Amino acid sequence: MLSCWSAGFLMILHNLRCSMSVNYYRLTLLFGVYSLLCRASEDKYTVSVPENANPGTDVVSLLEIGKAELPCVIVEGDPYGRFYVSTDCTVVVSKPLDWSVQSGYLLNIRVGQLEDTSHRTRVVSVLIIVTNVPGYPPVYNETCEPPVRHSGDSDGFLFSLGASAQIETTSGNVFFFEKTIAKPLENWNMEDPAFTIVIDNNCRVNIALGARGIADMETAAELWQANHDHEIGTFKLSCYTESNTILHEFFIELFYVNDRYKDNLHYLEQYIPQVLEKLKKPRLVYFISFQSQTKTATHYNCNFPPLRRAVGLPSPYRHLGGVKNVEAMTVDLSPVGCPPGKYGFLCNKTCICKNGARCHGFNGACKCTHGWQGVACDIPKPGVSATTTPSEPADIYTSANVTIHCKVHHLNVTTLSLRLPNGSDIVNISGNQLDKTVTNIQSEDKGPYTCQVRDTHGNVFNETIVLDIANCPPNRKGEFCDEACDCLRGASCDWRSGCVCPPGWTGDRCQTTCPNGTYGERCAKKCRCRNGASCTPSDGECSCTAGWYGSFCDVPCPRHRHGFRCQKICTCKNNATCDNVDGSCTCAAPWKGKDCDEIQAIGSKTLVELLVPLGSVIALLACAAIVLHKKRPLCDDTAAADGETEALLELEQVQTDLAQTVEPGWLRRWQTASRHLTLGHLVGMGMFGHVIKAKLKISTGEITTVAAKAVRRKDTQCYRNFYTEAAILVALHEDQHHDNLRSNIIQLLGLVNEASRKYILMEYASKGNLLRLLRRTRRQNGTASLPHHLRYAIHIARARALQELQRLAITHCDVAARNVLITADDVAKLADFGLARDVYATVQYVTDDGREQRQDNKENEVLPLNWMSLESLEKGEYTCQSDVWSFGVLLWEIAAQGQEPRYDGNNNPSCRQLAQTLRRGIRLRRPPECSGEVYVVMNSCWQELPSERPDPNVLEEKLQQVQHAMIPRLLIEMETAV
Ligand SMILES: *[C@@H]1O[C@H](CO)[C@@H](O)[C@H](O)[C@H]1NC(C)=O
Ligand SMILES: *[C@@H]1O[C@H](CO)[C@@H](O)[C@H](O)[C@H]1NC(C)=O
Ligand SMILES: *[C@@H]1O[C@H](CO)[C@@H](O)[C@H](O)[C@H]1NC(C)=O
Repeated sequence: MLSCWSAGFLMILHNLRCSMSVNYYRLTLLFGVYSLLCRASEDKYTVSVPENANPGTDVVSLLEIGKAELPCVIVEGDPYGRFYVSTDCTVVVSKPLDWSVQSGYLLNIRVGQLEDTSHRTRVVSVLIIVTNVPGYPPVYNETCEPPVRHSGDSDGFLFSLGASAQIETTSGNVFFFEKTIAKPLENWNMEDPAFTIVIDNNCRVNIALGARGIADMETAAELWQANHDHEIGTFKLSCYTESNTILHEFFIELFYVNDRYKDNLHYLEQYIPQVLEKLKKPRLVYFISFQSQTKTATHYNCNFPPLRRAVGLPSPYRHLGGVKNVEAMTVDLSPVGCPPGKYGFLCNKTCICKNGARCHGFNGACKCTHGWQGVACDIPKPGVSATTTPSEPADIYTSANVTIHCKVHHLNVTTLSLRLPNGSDIVNISGNQLDKTVTNIQSEDKGPYTCQVRDTHGNVFNETIVLDIANCPPNRKGEFCDEACDCLRGASCDWRSGCVCPPGWTGDRCQTTCPNGTYGERCAKKCRCRNGASCTPSDGECSCTAGWYGSFCDVPCPRHRHGFRCQKICTCKNNATCDNVDGSCTCAAPWKGKDCDEIQAIGSKTLVELLVPLGSVIALLACAAIVLHKKRPLCDDTAAADGETEALLELEQVQTDLAQTVEPGWLRRWQTASRHLTLGHLVGMGMFGHVIKAKLKISTGEITTVAAKAVRRKDTQCYRNFYTEAAILVALHEDQHHDNLRSNIIQLLGLVNEASRKYILMEYASKGNLLRLLRRTRRQNGTASLPHHLRYAIHIARARALQELQRLAITHCDVAARNVLITADDVAKLADFGLARDVYATVQYVTDDGREQRQDNKENEVLPLNWMSLESLEKGEYTCQSDVWSFGVLLWEIAAQGQEPRYDGNNNPSCRQLAQTLRRGIRLRRPPECSGEVYVVMNSCWQELPSERPDPNVLEEKLQQVQHAMIPRLLIEMETAV
């Protein structure tokens, strides 16, 4: 699900596509008629209105008061036109109010009889009290003032978001992902309400995004499953800036909103009130939050938490397989700004700022020009302003010419004056502006310049500007300002220290890059790049050499990859080790040659001997694929076209030899048309496949009951497992020694391989799986059935199950009661060649970190630890001997009548703990009902050295002896019981 860049991040953007819609702040401003607070006297009324009332909001209707006669008109009390009276005599807000500027208005409204001046005019007084609304008006925060965008797309975001990541896929590939998103993608539905943004006065952006639609939910669910913190119930991806002072965080948190994690909702609502109502109650919510503490771009480095299980990539990348690991993830955030007059994250809100005020891209707050005030800067602010030319302090330096401007706003002036730092005044009688130029300014000209104005009412206003004078003109430095800076790379010149270089540059004029091994501002930081990687001087980013990847180039390429960016595929055969740098192969004995595919000596004897280790090698690969549910990418929809090639490729990956034994055209030989198939009910459901009971019309016209296994989802993983199982079963069944009638391997009956319908058709084992059968009999008739059940173990050990697999060098890897099916004739058959093994499972699997997952939460299963041999646990080695170990556990399950095998002391061991337990010689205890002889047999399967474990044929023999010995005793027991 992870899209190809960083797992989490892309997901979110991916999700945006279906769910963008913004619900924020559409305040429904229906304040209606405000309550009449009191009636001071005849024709005097008081009402209140919140300061954030939108223009158009009704304040009071004089008709309802019963005092009005049409028409009405405001005659007094509203010089700046904040209100108007409508034709039905209702007072309406006409322009934005601002409590801090004016908190009350006393309106005199003349009602009726406009023409008849002979009558006494009736005037109604309405006192409008403006109430303060916390958080209003929005604050203009200069810290994060974004630029104004004058070019580019009109539908762009306020920010452009870039992300990059290096992803190890389950197919062993390393994928470099980079993407920048600056506007909604074409397929995003901006009207979908699953999206809400809150931007506050402190430059913080909070975005909540609900997962909508099946694909998004699936992706989010997988991600959550793979990472979430069990305590808190969220998955969090944190990114930090490398700033040397304060750490700033950019994070993405995935919430699963349910009863168990109720607190999370409160946490979320703290940032985005009523978030769930706004999102229409989705269960999986992404919460993205960051604080933009600069006006410029910010680069964040992320720590992607380790994945407990692979996560598939989202749709456009699904064919690339699953994400196993994410390295070197970064996020870049650049404020690009909104077009003039627009604001908000989506730049679709309209600014209200007037009179040349600048509108903040975040929240639409206005920065008023001189002489204006109020939330929209449309209320005159009488007074005087003091400014300079040049306006930039850096341009005011010793010997420069500077002009000070005093300007009067909205006043009738009597005198305007400017007081200089030395105390002298320059006075201007009448006139709204006074300018004073100081040529060749010197340090004694430093200090406050105060403009003062007196108006016709005798009121005095003043405003002061303090001049600080830099010592040197631009581009000059030194005590006498006699040296030129001439900085390169856009560096600024400080008159004392010279050029202030941008990160990565050094030297008098910033002409050289940082010395090797250092980077950043003043080259003060040490590079952390490993394995010969070079380090970008500006930001310390590492460019890896061949064979390595990751943030610091310290992660070697996955097993079968090498070279630059791990893009080359290793050619080493036969379990040779492939060098991550140059791809050279180190062969495992007895192989040699460049690709380790030549055998040292070939003689009939050695060949036979070789087959066993070869088998294990192949088996190992098979197991890696099967048990870990992971391997190379494959079949998206195009794969449907050529199932055979695909399946063979798949098989080749894990079973080179086996793949070669299959005669081309096998798919045709096994193929059946879906019209011959009538599906019934579901009999098993697993992560990758499900099994349906079905009727199949065979060529003779007969109808037979079959089990039809299908992919659960149409994704890579499911198809891969499907094809591998199909191919293994075909290979088994096409083997010349295979005896369909007597085999103890589940019988393959056919394959349906049509574009939209794919089934593996197998014989239907009506008694279900052995585990279920064991548990059922335990409940029904106690302990008496061991000898009977032992026969199932014998079936599995037989020449036609384990022994056959051994001959073909196939390792099942998951021999366990749950994977043994019992036919109507009471014959045990080995099924589920790892591919949808969970289809029949009713048992717990244990994740690598020791957490136990029960059947109902099987998505997390990883390995059947308690069935695994020592060498499988320790080294991931799977051989026929490790199947024998698991067979021992199967025996134990039979003896314990379907209980879960558990080692003493530790119920949920991790892989390592379990291996240590086994190393100490601890084994599963003898179940109480189990005879000593049976226990001896199972113990022999658990020898530490694989070579000391019995062969399946020896096991078969021993078990038969034990069984025979048990029958008479059993008869005696039964007789005494009667
Ligand atoms: C901005 O766009 C979003 C998505 O189309 C929409 O829901 C929202 O109402 C818009 N806001 C304004 C103020 O138009
Ligand atoms: C602007 O935002 C910063 C945080 O980025 C905050 O510390 C500061 O107080 C804010 N300024 C104003 C005027 O609210
Ligand atoms: C300041 O103005 C004078 C003329 O009034 C001019 O000669 C001089 O070059 C100016 N100084 C600067 C630094 O521009």
